[in-house]
Amino acid sequence: MAILPILEAPDPRLRAISKPVDAVDSKLRALIADMFETMYDAPGIGLAAIQVGVEKRLLLMDLQETEDEEGKPIRNPRVFINPELYDPSEEHSVYSEGCLSVPEQFADVERPATIHARWTDGDGKAHDEKLEGLLATCLQHEMDHLDGILFIDHLSRLKREMILKKLQKAKRAKAA
Ligand code: NI
Repeated sequence: MAILPILEAPDPRLRAISKPVDAVDSKLRALIADMFETMYDAPGIGLAAIQVGVEKRLLLMDLQETEDEEGKPIRNPRVFINPELYDPSEEHSVYSEGCLSVPEQFADVERPATIHARWTDGDGKAHDEKLEGLLATCLQHEMDHLDGILFIDHLSRLKREMILKKLQKAKRAKAA
């Protein structure tokens, strides 16, 4: 397993439209293992393959919503291969979103509160479920990545440019 470098905005590779996964084979499983290691290390709750430079319709999530007796989050890794969304609710919800490709920046994004999704998991099993809450929001955020969209694209131009400027500044400070 290996920790992979995460692409950061405004890297043009993040704008790619990812291609469907055609087989859940050992190569894909190795990529999934590396992506989980990368996501937990960051740390983050979601990661799309394109964020590590792989143009595949694959994303991972672990919301770690539950804790053990010592208050440590319990891991609940989820794999979504070739996910599709349908039937978004008219009701919207707002979450303060962040993204490993837009490090340390957060902004409120409004999305449908519930959504239906079809996907294949890491064992090759097909799912068709109605999702709500943080899971619905996070899946919509990660799905956007597969189509080259970042959460900052949902903000006003002014807010988006402010965030991109802050990123640039942080990068320059790191390099200095
Ligand atoms: Ni993201």
